Amino acid sequence: MDNTQVRKKFREHFGTSGELYFSPGRINLIGEHTDYNGGFVLPGAIDKGMLAEIKINGTNKVRAYSVDLDEYAEFGMNEADVPAQSWARYIFGVVREIAKRGGQVEGFDTAFSGDVPLGAGLSSSAALESTFAFALNEIFRLGIDKFELAKIGQATEHNYCGVKCGIMDQFASVFGKEGHLIRLDCRSLEYEYVPFNPVGYKVVLIDSVVKHELASSAYNRRRESCEAVVAAIRKHHPEVSLLRDADMQMLAEVKNEVSTEDYMRAEYVIEEIQRLLDACEALKKGDYKTVGEKMYGTHHGMSKLYEVSCEELDYLNDVARECGVTGSRVMGGGFGGCTINLVPEDKYDHFIETAVKGFKAKFGKEPKIYPVKIGDGSRKL
Ligand code: GLA
Repeated sequence: MDNTQVRKKFREHFGTSGELYFSPGRINLIGEHTDYNGGFVLPGAIDKGMLAEIKINGTNKVRAYSVDLDEYAEFGMNEADVPAQSWARYIFGVVREIAKRGGQVEGFDTAFSGDVPLGAGLSSSAALESTFAFALNEIFRLGIDKFELAKIGQATEHNYCGVKCGIMDQFASVFGKEGHLIRLDCRSLEYEYVPFNPVGYKVVLIDSVVKHELASSAYNRRRESCEAVVAAIRKHHPEVSLLRDADMQMLAEVKNEVSTEDYMRAEYVIEEIQRLLDACEALKKGDYKTVGEKMYGTHHGMSKLYEVSCEELDYLNDVARECGVTGSRVMGGGFGGCTINLVPEDKYDHFIETAVKGFKAKFGKEPKIYPVKIGDGSRKL
């Protein structure tokens, strides 16, 4: 990412220069809404993210400038000092979560900017959290390991931004590796880098440009549904502590004890955990056809059972199928954002053209196209 603007704005505001840090956004090939259920995910960091210039300022305040929003915020670092701007709360949250872990952070100046599209399901917020968690850890020599850096970002979402997210986004942002996906067991945090170079295919995101206003409360409700089903299953099977431990048989046993909606949510999650494992097996053999079928399976589940898709995303999924795209599905939390598509190279141009044209005609707005490149995780530049 070009650092000219950040450098320029930092100098304008603070009259000096600092160090540059970067953390990426992420894609996820398959395994959606499985992380907070203790299941597996298969994300990869992308070549787009958040860039921040940072320098210790000798005060006990953070002075932060968002280049993209052209907004400035100044805040203290105690629990009561919550900044008014929602973007500043990500930085404040990271500072607080570090402090809760005993880390000593002093005041600093920062200017930051990103090239991950906001609200597209590419985890621009995780990129922002990871950038600051990683940078402050280095600048103040805190000795926090990478697992804990990811957890600091996640806790920031929980405690300062109102989203009870899983660990996937922050983990992918911190641990990303060029050319690789990360097969992460979200319960144990054991992970494996899976080389991802689908010869003969292109991976592309199509952004529906839909942003769901109430996405975070809807997201939190999905999580509550999963927890309600676990509570019901536990009465019969005390060993079950997350949906990861449950199977369809156990779910069937509690059918009359949970709401229809909660049942559908859990059905999706249990199936999705298995779909991911199947897709990983297929990936090892270079069997992209099966990987693609599983992706379509995920879309169907997210649309009909988990109900986190929307008309625009369902439309993009249908077009993908009609154009012979190998795999396609809504990616990330849902409620808008992108589909991720595994497209045979010879079908690529036709697919993009058809999707863009059809989408415009049907919804009166233009979808955005982002070709995917898998990049490295958090780093100093
Ligand atoms: C959001 C959350 C993640 C994960 C995905 C869905 O991106 O931040 O933790 O739950 O949704 O897979």
